[in-house]
Amino acid sequence: MESANAIEVVINDLEAIAESHGDIVPLVYQRFFDVSDDGKMLMGHSDIHMQGRMFEQVLELLFTDDHFGPGCYLQWELENHLDAYGATPSMYQAFFEAVVSVAKSCLGEDWQLTNAEAWQQRVDQILTEVTAYEASNVGQSASI
Ligand code: HEM
Repeated sequence: MESANAIEVVINDLEAIAESHGDIVPLVYQRFFDVSDDGKMLMGHSDIHMQGRMFEQVLELLFTDDHFGPGCYLQWELENHLDAYGATPSMYQAFFEAVVSVAKSCLGEDWQLTNAEAWQQRVDQILTEVTAYEASNVGQSASI
């Protein structure tokens, strides 16, 4: 699926979820902590305001491709997260699994193959950057 189509589906889904379930953020973090002990250890202390600010940036990445690539927002944020906060690629994997799983359960019967493909497209874009960042970083450390 093309990015533009995937973005449209994801935005529509999130609007529908906001109408039916209100704020998705607590659900996402609860699910994240359920599936990632490491993630919970690192972020379990965070309050809803911090979680909300982080999720706002996650939405930015779901809603546009503008933040991918060298020198763009996601790389800068990965530097903070992987190098400074101690987040790991598997935590990213778990976090986005949680996001998609919450979206899927909130939409219930409205979750169809198109929705699954659209969310997968967005998440794959982000996780591809995470993997690439990690790979280039490991290379750098190994050469020191
Ligand atoms: C693409 C995904 C993510 C984005 C865009 C993102 C973005 C952000 C942002 C903007 C903040 C600063 C919030 C603020 O205090 O104003 C933050 C903090 C943080 N994030 Fe993420 N984040 C992502 C994924 C993750 C994952 C998977 C973890 C793993 C546990 C994580 C762990 C943290 C931690 C530990 C902090 C700092 C908390 C603190 O200061 O107490 N983030 N994130």
